[in-house]
Amino acid sequence: MQKFLSLDHIAPHLDGAAVTERAGTYAGLVDEARAGFPGDRSCAGWMRLSETAGEEALFRIARKAAEIRQEADAFVIIGVGGSNNAARAVIEALPASRRGIEILYAGNATAPSAMQDVLRRMEGRSVYLNIIAKNFETLEPGAAFRVLRQRLYAEYGPDAARRILATGTPGSRLHRLCLEKGWEFFPFPEAVGGRYSAFTDVGLLPMAVAGAEIRALLDGARQMQRMLLSLPAAENPALLYAAARTLLYERGYRAECLSSFEPRLRWFSKWWIQLFGESEGKRGRGLLPVSCQCSEELHSMGQFLQEGTPVAFETFLRVEEEAGPTLLPDGVDDGFAYLDGKPFAALNAASQDATLAAHSAHHPCLTVDVGTLDERAFGALYMFFLLACVFSCRMTGVDPFDQPGVEAYKRAMFRTLGKEESI
Ligand code: PA5
Repeated sequence: MQKFLSLDHIAPHLDGAAVTERAGTYAGLVDEARAGFPGDRSCAGWMRLSETAGEEALFRIARKAAEIRQEADAFVIIGVGGSNNAARAVIEALPASRRGIEILYAGNATAPSAMQDVLRRMEGRSVYLNIIAKNFETLEPGAAFRVLRQRLYAEYGPDAARRILATGTPGSRLHRLCLEKGWEFFPFPEAVGGRYSAFTDVGLLPMAVAGAEIRALLDGARQMQRMLLSLPAAENPALLYAAARTLLYERGYRAECLSSFEPRLRWFSKWWIQLFGESEGKRGRGLLPVSCQCSEELHSMGQFLQEGTPVAFETFLRVEEEAGPTLLPDGVDDGFAYLDGKPFAALNAASQDATLAAHSAHHPCLTVDVGTLDERAFGALYMFFLLACVFSCRMTGVDPFDQPGVEAYKRAMFRTLGKEESI
């Protein structure tokens, strides 16, 4: 794998040697990761790919995905936060031509318009549902699942049961309902939290239904994992990334902006924001994770990043891309003759290089080399950022696996809606 993380553009704001030194101080984290985070084994199941994505599970996913792709023209993923972000990031990045089935998302909003929109898009189509819920108490997916399954039963009668798949905790209420109602059950491993669930049935089943090569994704994850668990601290990109962001936080930076010139990474940015936001933002600490979709948002975020309050540093995701259409002259004197003969990739490359040069003069910039944006790359990106997130949380002294703040809004909402346990 070529150099994955570059710190070339953090100077003059931060000395690369300081990053290497800090990474060295935390070399023990790599040993901990290699041992499967023994202190957190019950939350580190995502490191054990052979358990969460073994042959049996992959075979079952492939068989179900083939059935759904054959029989359905719409597949609704019902889930919120970690329960749908990883799958959505991959699905929305794949060429639509490969999808062959419409993927709809529900259970991630309480807005009536969102619910109505899904119901409208289900009309006249052969639909399957996948409810994904670790504890099956979260209101958004619970409410959407009720509306959507009622719609399915109204349409298909008892046959609706085989169109409902549930991914949940074994032994949970959702599991019991599956046994009672005949919905097919897929396990959400106990030792894997929502935002760490890309390599389990949670992420892999919907990805496979949407036509993604999940074995390639897992290969990418394994390759990245091998690299991160074997490289020494001074060369370990996950540890260096965590060390750089921790040092920048200590020097007063309060936000990290994930920037990319590839619009297909839009939903990946959401996944990244969720991972770091929910894992790291605790105890009055953490970097605010934000994103910039270039080049469009250079005309909004770009202004702020370049000249606004200096609170953010940037991490650029660089993607290898095809040349795309070439700009040909058409005899119209439109003032763009300097683009004649240039493919779109040249425009994007120029835009990226110029942005990196301009922004790094103002604040530190890191770059991550994604390579070709395919399933393998997604697997590598997920593994890289998951490990880096745990390392970062350890360096700032917060628990990467809990989310006590999320519970606060839930308690208040449950009280308003009259949920008994909270009264
Ligand atoms: O990452 C997390 O743990 C959360 O974002 C959860 O995935 C999210 O709250 C959904 O939880 P559940 O699947 O239990 O409904």
